[in-house]
Parts: sequence; structure tokens; C-alpha cells
Amino acid sequence: MKTMLITGFKGEIGSQMLKELVKKNSNNQIIALDIAEKNQNHTFKNVEFIQDSITNIDLLQSIFEKHDIDEIYHFVALLSQSSKKNPELAQKINVDSTISIIDLAYDLGLKKKKFTKFFFPSSIAVYGPRKIALASEKDIIKPKSLYGLNKISIEQYGTKKHEQSILNCSGVDFRSLRFPGILSPYNIPTGGTTDYLPQMLHSAKNGLNYVCQVDKKTTLPFITIDNAIRAITQIMSPKSIESKLRSFNVQDFSISAYNFELILREMFSEFQIQYKSNQDMQNIADSWPESLNCELAISFGFSPDREIKKIINNLINLIDV
Ligand code: SER
Repeated sequence: MKTMLITGFKGEIGSQMLKELVKKNSNNQIIALDIAEKNQNHTFKNVEFIQDSITNIDLLQSIFEKHDIDEIYHFVALLSQSSKKNPELAQKINVDSTISIIDLAYDLGLKKKKFTKFFFPSSIAVYGPRKIALASEKDIIKPKSLYGLNKISIEQYGTKKHEQSILNCSGVDFRSLRFPGILSPYNIPTGGTTDYLPQMLHSAKNGLNYVCQVDKKTTLPFITIDNAIRAITQIMSPKSIESKLRSFNVQDFSISAYNFELILREMFSEFQIQYKSNQDMQNIADSWPESLNCELAISFGFSPDREIKKIINNLINLIDV
């Protein structure tokens, strides 16, 4: 039996990861933390729900004192546009609280003479300042956005703690994926730069027209939520990952806003889009890679799905109207 902690379980990735953890680990104990109230229909019997802020360090300490946690899935975060609007909160949530929880995982590992596994969702935002194609993990990294700077600082902090842990033979086992935009039929995201694509998808299905805040030529990589969850499970499953690099790229396909619109219009002939670039969004989108080299993740079992039309069709069918 294992004990797992998932933070941000009400978010886009967290909500689907919690379902997956519950499905896969019916004997395990899961502690699920979010500032938002849990849904009334969340009645999983092996889950202890806690409604509180990740900035409550006393709470975090008491969770680690009470439970011998084996795996942490840390999804609480402000996305790129929200971070730009609220840099102090972004620093508190995306950096300070994340460091506290990595430290608690490390201390617990030392105390119990084990490795506490830690999953961190990083982002294509770590790349920049210019758009490149097929970015690989060691490419030049000079993020333009605060969000990207925060993500890279946690990647580096987690990697350093991981290296220290290897020397101690106990501590934290830090693993991370650099996610592109996520396409989910279950949520309509807000606060991010890549939101325009999933928002277009939901608008088309709901019979609404859409105003896109990036230029029609803007091309970024995307992954479906189901494949993102599979990738997390794949990277967290092995006992250890023999790699000094601890953050790996994943994506399914890359597409421009306009080509995505064309596919949607084949399915919804009435659907209409207006392009009105928002400078903040455009500047960030133009500094992120148009595609990622995913060879390393593929070597751990990740399998990109490149059948764009089939993917879009499946997502459309899954959206509840
Ligand atoms: N989807 C995120 C954002 O747009 C990037 O990781 O902010």
C-alpha cells in the first residue's frame, strides 16, 4: 500500500490525475488538497480531501508528519497570463510553496531512508526567448515570461535536491515533464497562453463563435489530457530513472490556430473565428517553441499521438453540451 499526495486536484490536470490514481490504486491512500471545494460527487473512499491553501505551511508540515507519503503530484499553479497579472502571488504559489513541498518530501525521504517520488508539471514556457522548432531539453533556455522563469527555477531546484538525494541514498526523487498546451474535453482553461485552442474546440461544439487572441499563424505544440495523464503515469512508474536530466518534453502534435480552425469548420460549417491579437499573449506565444523533440520521453514509453483529425473528433464527442 502506498500513500500519495495530490495538490491542485480540482485543476485541469489534477482532476484527471486524481481519477487515474483512484482507478489504479484502490488499496492506496490518497490525500487530495485544493483551495476549492471538492465536488459533492467526489466520494472516493480511499481519498482524504483537504480544502486549504498550498501556502499554509503548517498544514503541509502536519500532512508530512502524519503520513508516510511515497508519491507527490504537485499541480497547484498559476498559469502564464495569471502569473503576469499577479507576479507576487505567482512567486508565492509557483516558487515558494513548491520549494517548501519539495523540501518536505526530501526531509521525509531522509528520515525514512527512502526516496519520496515527486512529480512536477513543467512547461514549454521554460524555452525562449525566440521561437524554435523541435526544441530539445538541452536547448538554450532563456524564458521571457515570469511563468517560464518560475518553472525553470523549480526544475533546477528539484534537480539539485535530486542529486543531493542520490549522494545520501535517500531524499527526493524529482521527475518532471515539460507540457505544451493541453486539450481537454472536461475543462475550458483560463489564465494560460495556450488556452485559445481548447477554447476554440469548446466554442465550436457549443455552437458559439470565437475571438482568438493570437494571430492565425501562431503555431504551438499540444497534447491531449489523456495522453498527458498517461505520460505522468509512465514517468512515475519506474523505480528509478537513470538520467541526470529530470525534465522531459512531451507533445502530441503542433498546429497553427488557422489550421485548427479549418479542421473545426469541416465539422461545424457555421463556426466562425475572428483573430484579434492580444499583445501580451502574442509576445509569450512567439517566444515558445512551435514543436518539441520528445525522443527522451519516448525512450521511457511515451507515445505521441499525431492523428490530429481523429484526436479532434474524439475530443468533440467527449465534450458535454
Ligand atoms: N498552458 C500553459 C499556459 O499557457 C503553458 O504551460 O500558461
